[in-house]
This record gives sequence, C-alpha cells and structure tokens, in this order.
Amino acid sequence: MAVKGLCGSVDEFLKHCEQSGDAAYSAFRSLLERLEDPTTRTQARIFLSDLQKRFDAKEANEQCLQTYHFRIHDIYIEQYEGYQKRKKLTMMVIPSIFIPEDWSFTFYEGLNRHPDSIFNDKTVAELGCGNGWISIAIAEKWSPLKVYGLDINPRAVKVSWINLYLNALDDNGQPIYDGENKTLLDRVEFHESDLLAYCKDHHIELERIVGCIPQILNPNPDAMSKMISENASEEFLHSLSNYCALQGFVEDQFGLGLIARAVEEGIAVIKPMGIMIFNMGGRPGQGVCKRLFERRGLRVNKLWQTKILQASDTDISALVEIEKNSPHRFEFFMGLAGDQPICARTAWAYGKAGGRISHALSVYSCQLRQPNQVKRIFEFLKNGFHEINNSLDLSFEDDSVADEKIPFLAYLASVLKENSFFPYEPPAGSTRFRSLIAGFMKAYHHVPLTANVRKQLIKCCI
Ligand SMILES: C[S@@+](CC[C@H](N)C(=O)[O-])C[C@H]1O[C@@H](n2cnc3c(N)ncnc32)[C@H](O)[C@@H]1O
Repeated sequence: MAVKGLCGSVDEFLKHCEQSGDAAYSAFRSLLERLEDPTTRTQARIFLSDLQKRFDAKEANEQCLQTYHFRIHDIYIEQYEGYQKRKKLTMMVIPSIFIPEDWSFTFYEGLNRHPDSIFNDKTVAELGCGNGWISIAIAEKWSPLKVYGLDINPRAVKVSWINLYLNALDDNGQPIYDGENKTLLDRVEFHESDLLAYCKDHHIELERIVGCIPQILNPNPDAMSKMISENASEEFLHSLSNYCALQGFVEDQFGLGLIARAVEEGIAVIKPMGIMIFNMGGRPGQGVCKRLFERRGLRVNKLWQTKILQASDTDISALVEIEKNSPHRFEFFMGLAGDQPICARTAWAYGKAGGRISHALSVYSCQLRQPNQVKRIFEFLKNGFHEINNSLDLSFEDDSVADEKIPFLAYLASVLKENSFFPYEPPAGSTRFRSLIAGFMKAYHHVPLTANVRKQLIKCCI
C-alpha cells in the first residue's frame, strides 16, 4: 500500500527507517503530517495497519525495533477496558523516547485504584506522557472532557499524536465514536511542554494532574543544560526519560526536585478541589516522599505500592554521591524478594557485581488542604522567597492547628503582597485597640475616654 508523497510502499518506508533512528523518526513525522490532513488521513492510517501486520509475531516485533528503529504493537493491560470493552491499545515507540515498562504499568494500576468517576468529564493533564499511552487509556476508559498529554521530549509528543490516530481510527482508517459520539481525537491533545508550562501559558485550569516523571539526578549535570530539540541526539532525548536536572528545591538532594516543581506548578493551575496523582520511586524512603506533598499543604493518600526492579540502564551513582555527603540513606532491596533495605552505595556495588536491585514504587494521590489559602501562599512565595519556600512546612498533625496557621500565613502573604513595607502600628499603639478600650471604659464604667490623647486633653482644658 502506497502513501502518496511519503515513502511509497511499506518496503520503501522500511528501507528508509533502516538507515538510522533519526531517519525512522523523520519518516514517521511525514506520516503524521498525512494523518493530520483530513484528505490523506484514512490512507495514512491504513498504511500504519499494513506496517503493523508486517511484524505481527512477537519476535518479529522485537526485531523491528532493532532493525527499523520503531515498533508498533498491541498492548494488553490488566485493569484496562475501554469503550465497548476494548481490551487493548495499539502503540508505537521509537528508541529516543521512553519505552513503557514496569514504572508506567504500576502507575496505571495506581490510577485505577481511585473511584471510577475521578476523570469522568474532567480536564486532565498528564506530565511526562512519553508515547502517550496513559493519556489515551484515561480518555478511552473514563471519558474525560479533555486530556492534555505533555512531554519535554519533542519526539515523544509526535509519537503520542501518531498513537492517538492509531487508536482513534480503526484499521480501515474510519473514526471510532464513543457513547457521546466523540472520538479520542476530541478528548486528547499532546503538546511539548516543560511540566505544566503549556497549561500556564494557555490559562487552562485543570481538575486532575497525573505524572510519572524522572526522579534521578543526571550523573552528568552538564548534560541537562543542552538545548532540547527534536534534532538533539537520540541518546540525550532518551536520557530525559530517567534523569532530571537540579531544580533549586530542597528535595533535589533526594532526586525529587522535578516532582517538587511539578507539585508547585500544579498548586498554581489546579482548581481548588483538584486532585494530583504522582508515581514515586521509593528510593529516598517513604517518609521523604510523603513529606514532599505534606509540607506544601497537601493531604496525601497512598493509592498503590509495589516493588520493581531498578532499570539496568539507570545509573544511581548520583545517589551514592549524596550519601557520601549527607547522613541520608536511600532505600533499595536485593532482588524483588529482599525485604531488608540496603543503601545506594551497597545497591550500586551489588548491581556492578551482576545482582539485580529493586525499590518500592508508590502512587500517591493528593489534594490541597485549604485550597485557596495554600494557593495564595505559593503565589506570594513565587516572587523570590526561595529560602522561605525551601523551609516552609505546612504539614500539621492536628487539623485545628492547620486551620489556624494556614489562614494566618495566607493573610500575611496577601498583606505583604499589597504593601511594599512591613506594616507597623504608630508609636502610641494601635488606634483600633485604643478605641476598643475607650469603648469598654465608656460602656461599663462610664468613664468618658476617647482613643485620641489630644482630644482628651482639649476636653479636660474646657
Ligand atoms: C518515566 S517516563 C514516563 C512516560 C509515560 N508516562 C509512560 O508511563 O510510559 C518520563 C517522561 O517524562 C518526560 N519528562 C522529563 N522531564 C520532563 C519535564 N521537565 N517536563 C515534561 N516531561 C518531562 C520524559 O521525556 C519521559 O517521557
């Protein structure tokens, strides 16, 4: 089957892809242009089916990734049942983006632990959408109003769009309508975005934010300062899946700086009763993970927890360095069965000697405790109060203490925002307080006092 203006036949297309990962990406980018154009969409979608059929068998599918630098296959996810009880999604990947594995499947499992209605009719953002499968699965399963799948890797965004067309149209290129007469194309959009930048810039108010984003500092800090463009090296683009840069938050020391920034950006754009759900690797220890949310005025609920093997291509030497310079100990386990935690240094050595290490993986859901007040506090702190931000602690065991302290801080933030000076009372004391005393003396003791000293003196002289 030929796609006009593309690479002709499937064979020609494959020949092009075989040259390199970059060549395969550029071939798929042209195919995406055909999918976006309503006049060529049907043919382009049929072409994708033909490509997939060519590598139907499992081994052929693996081979395809090695030889042609892409893979299209059906994924069957436990807990997945989309519109009309569809049980699978068809998804493509390329080597320069994150290839879904245990991390993502655990995250999806956690999303499923929430009551069914949490995404229905809601505006949702997925941070770090990778090849887009979670955004698409949410849209198919829960009929949200809109899902914005966001990723900093430009190639991930393009692949996500292709995956959207793959699942919104059938093998004959015809749209699949759901019960509300909508297709996935009405419900999902993908955009290149550093965390929530796209939503902030477009004034999109969100009701749900979900995210599975990197939680390990790049062992090579300079690597992260490179320009992120679709022409960057495949290796660099892929490294965005696992590693992040320093973000200027106290949580950086545990590799959780990117999550900390995501939570603070989330506080700014989420509706007051909104819910955020994050996938958290348990390497820094459960206490540290929970605290990241609680100290920012959020209530946390652990939806799901399991243990997963550390990906063998993830370098944890940055965590070993942190342990050298601080008393903190990360939490790993030997294999999946081990139940005694080992630190990053031991885990690193064990890994080098050929052992597999694992760590906990939890899915946390969180909601603002006193939404408007907490939003006001963070809105204020955004303007350069870096140190205060890093030492801020809005976690209170006792609700009544939270009810007193959070509104006070919010009030303080709003007063400080209005005034360019620190408010103070005149030397003679607070006029309002003096008026109250004078009123009390007059009412209960018939002493004719006023708040103002000068008026009092004049009265006496007369
Ligand atoms: C662990 S992968 C998860 C991908 C996908 N959600 C899945 O489960 O298959 C993390 C993703 O976060 C993206 N990412 C890294 N830093 C980001 C940032 N600052 N803003 C948005 N996305 C980011 C990476 O490009 C990568 O696709």
